[in-house]
Formats: sequence, C-alpha cells, structure tokens
Amino acid sequence: MEFKELFIGLSENKSLNALAKKYGLLFGAKSVVGGENIPDTVETIKKLNAQGIEATIDNLGEFVDTKEIAERELIIILNMIDAIQEHNLKAHMSIKLTQLGLEFDKKYAMENLRKILLKASKTNMHINIDTESYRTLADIQSMIDEVKHEFSNVGTVIQCYLYDAEEMIEKYPDLRLRLVKGAYSEDDTISFQSKEDIDENYIKMIKKRLLNANNITSIATHDHNIINEIKQFVKDHDIDKDQFEFQMLYGFRTEMHKALVDEGYNFCVYIPFGKDWFAYFMRRLAERPQNLDLVIKSFVKK
Ligand code: FDA
Repeated sequence: MEFKELFIGLSENKSLNALAKKYGLLFGAKSVVGGENIPDTVETIKKLNAQGIEATIDNLGEFVDTKEIAERELIIILNMIDAIQEHNLKAHMSIKLTQLGLEFDKKYAMENLRKILLKASKTNMHINIDTESYRTLADIQSMIDEVKHEFSNVGTVIQCYLYDAEEMIEKYPDLRLRLVKGAYSEDDTISFQSKEDIDENYIKMIKKRLLNANNITSIATHDHNIINEIKQFVKDHDIDKDQFEFQMLYGFRTEMHKALVDEGYNFCVYIPFGKDWFAYFMRRLAERPQNLDLVIKSFVKK
C-alpha cells in the first residue's frame, strides 16, 4: 500500500511533472507512450493497425485548471482527430472531461466536448469518455446524458469497483461501453476494496453487460484469468465476436495482444501520447510494482 501511495504522490507532484515534460520520455516511458507528438503517434498507430490491432488514443494532459490550458488540450485533441481521419487509421479517441475544463467551468467543458464529437462524427469516429475519480462521475454522466441524444458516436467507461456499476450498466445498454476494474483510490462507502471482491464484481458486470448490450463492449484488463473466463463465457453463450473487444494499455503484456488477435478476437490498444507522460507513468507503477521492470530495462539498455 505504501508503494502505491508513493507513486500516486509522485504522479500528483506538479514540479516533477513540469520537469519531466522538459526532458522527454525517460525511465522506460517510451515503451508505454505512443509518441511525444502527433506524427510519431500516427506512426505507432500505423504499425499496430498493420498487425490487426485498433487503437484508442489518449492525449496526456494533467493539471488543467484554466481555460488557456484547456484550450491548448482541446486543439491537440482536434488535431489528433484530423490526423486519424487524414491517414484513415483504425483508431478513435479516449478523452478526459477534466482536461476540457470540467472542474472549473462545466458549460465550457460541454462546449469543448461538443466540438470534439462534431468533428469526430464526420467519419463516425467513436469518442470514449474516460471515467476519473468518483467526485467527477455525476458531472461526467450528466454531460453524457445530454450529448447521447445528439451524437451516436459517444460512449464511456464503467468502473466495476463501484457499487453503482450495475445500475450504470443498466442505464446505458445502447452506448458503446468500456468495462474496467477502476484505477482511483475510493473508499468503502462507494467501492469494493479487496482484490477478490473487485475481480468478482468485474466478472459479474462483464457477463451482465454482454448478455444485455445493444452496442460494443470493450473489456479492458490485463488479467489473463478474467480474459480466459470471458472467452469461455462468450463461447458458452454463443456471443458473436463482433459484439465485444479486448483492450489493453500500449506496451503492457504485448505478447497477449498478438495472441488475442491471432485467436480472432477484436483487440484495441489504449495509446497515450504527448509530453505530459510523468503522471501517467507513475500511476502505472502505483498500479503494479512489477512495472518497475520497465524502468530497470531502460537503464540496462543504455
Ligand atoms: P490488475 O492490475 O488487477 O492485475 C490482475 C492480474 O493480471 C495480475 O495479478 C497479473 O497476474 C496480471 N497482470 C496485470 N498487469 C500485468 C502486466 N503488465 N504484466 C503481466 N501480468 C499482468 N480506469 C479508470 O478508472 N478509468 C478509465 O477510464 C480506465 N481506462 C482504461 C483503459 C484501458 C484500455 C485499460 C487496460 C485500463 C483502464 N483503466 C481505467 C484502468 C483499470 O481500471 C485498472 O486500474 C487497470 O487496468 C489494472 O487492472 P487490470 O485488470 O488490468 O489488472
């Protein structure tokens, strides 16, 4: 637990984040970040597409607390959408509403979201709204509830560590949904705490969703036990492979990416890109101490 808190603390340190931005991708971050800029990320996506892997692209951006910063992030996201459309890539965007101003001006964040959905809808590109800490969830959902009537290309993420996950899955049968365990530190008034309880609820939610969905379900996990259980479940219930996909983060468990594609499953990789890599990288280390391997390997390579 202490280990987790150390890396979460580092991820939230503004000075370290600013310093890391200046030095570029260090400590093995290169292997888990798709590129520092749009052209490099386009090349990464092309390579994955050539292997039959789709991509969902995330613009890295932390500490967005003014309109000036949010505007900058919005432009990067719109430019990335342009690049995906121009290069005809098999890719869509994952966005965070806190990056668009959610925490300081909801109306402004909504305007930004609409701009993104409108541009993406020209090629029917999906826009996934990532879920963040619980304190932002009600606002995220009320914005989704508003735009889902205007745009068919919007979807979101259900964090299955939340007691509310089941209710949310029932609420959105028609949206494309990504199901995850959940990455934030939440207390026991709102979320399961033990690994066993979280895993159990995650599996239960995936099964419930797969049996009731009218849109694609993205099963986003690196957990081979859960992936194997779901593979068996879809076989037993004759669920078409085009109704769901597996998702993993870029650079993690890459041997499994290829294996899932070879077995004929739809597979999509989540690719973060940009200069603001430090907090993302620290959160991955907090999530799984073994990811320190990446840091060690980066020194050995030199
Ligand atoms: P978990 O960390 O629970 O590990 C389970 C087991 O899997 C381990 O014991 C190990 O055996 C194996 N394993 C895991 N990682 C491994 C590795 N790198 N190498 C080898 N074995 C490994 N969260 C959120 O709150 N909001 C969001 O919007 C998103 N979005 C999102 C998109 C995508 C594509 C992914 C993959 C994840 C997210 N998440 C997220 C994060 C998610 O909630 C969760 O925190 C992480 O995926 C970690 O949980 P896992 O199920 O992947 O494995």
